[in-house]
Amino acid sequence: MISQYNIVSDYHQLSSEVAGIVSTQIKEHPLSKLCLPTGSTPLGMYEDLVMLELDWRLVITFNLDVYLMNVDHPESYQSYMKKNLFDSINIFPINCHFPFRPTSAFEDKIAGSMGIDLCILGIGTNGHIAFNEPGSSFKSRTRLVDLDEQTIQDNSRFFDSVDDVPKQAITMGLGTIMESKKIVLMANGKHKREILDEAMYGDVTEEIPASILQEHDNVIIFYCD
Ligand code: PGA
Repeated sequence: MISQYNIVSDYHQLSSEVAGIVSTQIKEHPLSKLCLPTGSTPLGMYEDLVMLELDWRLVITFNLDVYLMNVDHPESYQSYMKKNLFDSINIFPINCHFPFRPTSAFEDKIAGSMGIDLCILGIGTNGHIAFNEPGSSFKSRTRLVDLDEQTIQDNSRFFDSVDDVPKQAITMGLGTIMESKKIVLMANGKHKREILDEAMYGDVTEEIPASILQEHDNVIIFYCD
């Protein structure tokens, strides 16, 4: 059962609602551990978070996924996070974690920080969350994965050509994500509506990775056309 499925009027509201949840989390629990997404959808939320001028000094972040590529490349998710958030807030770089190998050590880092308090997710047009592509085990942990052809096509807009899109990534697993205390999923655009509804109201199946969220007891969805 999904706790809340909110359809909001526009992208501005989508961004500010989710930024508001992050802000409340940090103000109420300055030592929060957050799990953060990349992609187009969260850009407005990050802009809002920068403007809110929160105190990030005690916050620890874990990113959901990274491409297997040079971290200094402008399209790496490490570069994305620096550009869109980390360089504009007072977080300590040592507290910003990205999936790495050995992946068991990344899992140990999350466990050692006592787990994720708030996880912000997007959803892919194929129903993926992070880079857990269709067919991923619901029990999966952080691991190296091959990207789905659909994901490579969807993400080619960020690169000069589809051939430049990395073919592999390291992603947090579905089992890892599901251990977060609270999850917020944001989806922007009509092209996401059908898969979102299928994931939230259809069968819980590994063919639609996001459908596992139906089994979490604290999930909030925000969608706008
Ligand atoms: P997008 O990606 O925000 O760029 O649409 C979302 C996702 O693939 O999880």
